[in-house]
Amino acid sequence: MRKVRKAVIPVAGFGTRFLPATKSTPKEMMPLIDKPIIHYIVEEAVKSGIETVIFITGRHKRAIEDYFDYYPELEQILEKGGKEKEIEKLREISNMAEFVYIRQKEQLGLGHAVLTAERVVGDEPFAVLLGDEIIKNETNPGIKQLIDVYYKFGKSVIGTMEVSKEDVSKYGIVDGKEVVDGIKLVDKLIEKPSVEEAPSTTAIIGRYVLTPDVFEALKNTPIGKGGEIQLTDGLSILRQKEVIYAKDIEGLRHDTGNKIGYLEAIMDFALEREDVKNEFIKIMMQKCREIEQS
Ligand code: G1P
Repeated sequence: MRKVRKAVIPVAGFGTRFLPATKSTPKEMMPLIDKPIIHYIVEEAVKSGIETVIFITGRHKRAIEDYFDYYPELEQILEKGGKEKEIEKLREISNMAEFVYIRQKEQLGLGHAVLTAERVVGDEPFAVLLGDEIIKNETNPGIKQLIDVYYKFGKSVIGTMEVSKEDVSKYGIVDGKEVVDGIKLVDKLIEKPSVEEAPSTTAIIGRYVLTPDVFEALKNTPIGKGGEIQLTDGLSILRQKEVIYAKDIEGLRHDTGNKIGYLEAIMDFALEREDVKNEFIKIMMQKCREIEQS
């Protein structure tokens, strides 16, 4: 079976939920303490065996390219200050993987973004990680869990989690029969259904391992929800040709694409950082007391 070596990370979205910050800063570059969100996502991919990261990017996303590049001017300054360790740390970011950037010239949806990667991906299985979802699992990274299922069955695998009924309209929803513990054989996929339409409460989260046959399916995918070419619809077409699996991903998921999810992620990461943790807890407790007394 072919190795999953490449990951596609679509990052061309405008991030309108975070305006005005995203007017000039890509939402993927917003920091969780001192590391941008996208860094965590690339780390997850690399820890899962990915060698090439393909960003589907846009004209307003140059900061992402700069982040994963060397920065000689800054290195010179750090060198003068004897900060070799810092230089090494910065270089490690650029050396994590091979980075490829493809411009998505038009914003036609997630399915279109993935299709844009066709020539660079070629005829091999690949991972897709969405740029605003973080999955925390130190021992078994989110996308690795799907790659392992791919190695078992050799077919596409979608990462899922159970959501409440009220939330089904925020996600792509899948239904299917469980074949092994936590792994389903998908028989239905619907992008952002209403509560009545939803066949289940199993939601697609931003992780996929796909066979290259998905490209043909995406070329035949009509415009769907929101006037966009949806990856979920493309997968629905792919399913007519070959089986697709869904796996509940184990780990803590942060949806940093919305304000509360972003705040929660910052809090969670701060509580794990030895350099800020204690002070941060003190401040939080003080704030809580103030709120209680008011
Ligand atoms: C996308 C997908 C959707 C999936 C979701 C996960 O939607 O289209 O199927 O459930 O990501 O976050 P978006 O949140 O980009 O609208």
